[in-house]
Amino acid sequence: MTTIQLTVNGNAIEPTVEPRTHLADVLRDQLDLTGTHLGCEHGVCGACTLLLDGAPARSCITFAVACAGAAITTIEGLDEDEIAAELRTAFAREHALQCGYCTPGMIMSARDLVLRLDDADEQAIRVGLSGNLCRCTGYAGIVRAIRAVIEARRQRGIAAVIGAGRTSLGPVGSHPNTIPTTSPSMPVMTDIKLSSGAAVATLDVPDVIPAKSFDASFTVNAAPEQVFTLFGDARTLAACFPGATITDMPAPDCIEGEIRVAIGPLAAAFRGSARIDRDETNLSGRLIGTGRDQKSRTSTSGQISWRMVPIDDGRKTRVLLTIGYSLSGPLAQIARDGLVRDLASRITTTFAQNCDSYLSGATNQAARDQPQRLNAVGLLLDVALSRLGALVRGLRKP
Ligand code: FES
Ligand code: FES
Repeated sequence: MTTIQLTVNGNAIEPTVEPRTHLADVLRDQLDLTGTHLGCEHGVCGACTLLLDGAPARSCITFAVACAGAAITTIEGLDEDEIAAELRTAFAREHALQCGYCTPGMIMSARDLVLRLDDADEQAIRVGLSGNLCRCTGYAGIVRAIRAVIEARRQRGIAAVIGAGRTSLGPVGSHPNTIPTTSPSMPVMTDIKLSSGAAVATLDVPDVIPAKSFDASFTVNAAPEQVFTLFGDARTLAACFPGATITDMPAPDCIEGEIRVAIGPLAAAFRGSARIDRDETNLSGRLIGTGRDQKSRTSTSGQISWRMVPIDDGRKTRVLLTIGYSLSGPLAQIARDGLVRDLASRITTTFAQNCDSYLSGATNQAARDQPQRLNAVGLLLDVALSRLGALVRGLRKP
């Protein structure tokens, strides 16, 4: 259990939570703030939306420990808020609610739209609300209510606030400097020594706290030192990684490039930067990167940590991986954990085969210089077939 400091609706509190406890559970179960509703509990319906450091966030998929130091506003904290009051009146007038289950989350997202949008553009409002599902209303009244509030405020000369007043980018409420690093839930490798401080300063890729993480491993027919060397060669590493392309290397440990992946029914090309940290004393390291897919306006950050374990008297290496990632934006709504894990599992398998091939000398230098292309459609189909197969096997069980 970990004690964290939060400011909830202006009140400083110090709840004690388990690493796996979600923010919504802390609010509802420990603080009786039941205005934050739970619907799907996996980040799709938006019923649990609240403000985390002023930005809308889904509390059902936000670990409470990841919010240490954050300011949280729930629907109860908007009683005196001018925009929320206008929205409540408009929702009632436009019949924008029936059962009301989605309404607290709707108000949270709507308030953000009222703050940010220059005008009451219906398309922009519908896109902005696409992370909040309503089972009852059909949305027409909700959109009318939000449009009315935006129009009324702009007519009164109240301008939109660029970025809703937020001044920093990145996952809301993550507060990496205030998170207790002893928490067992945090996949942060604090003992890694940077092999090139100058390189890190050049690209300034920040540390990330992944929202989700899982472990994977594979075996390579080479000694741990050889595999560790390969993992420190950014160009070879990228060539082994399906879908990755390096566009620039401002320093030996810093990469700028692109990675193409397929998540659910959509393919994405994340462009961004990454850095590699290595620790030769225990043959471990990590790659930390951030990127953005312009087409879907989805951002991601992630960290792949590795450690080489000798097996077979050091003739082979078991590579232990911890893969962590955070997604924010439209793709985050369809990237279910299971789908991402299946995808990662197939990428890891291909990556392992490529590493093996390079280390055994089966891949020549010319091929090494060619970026590996991930057949996104094929991989997606593979994932889909695999999941369908699992479903059919499940149905066949007596
Ligand atoms: S309960 Fe959090 S998104 Fe549905
Ligand atoms: S009003 Fe019932 S779910 Fe939206």
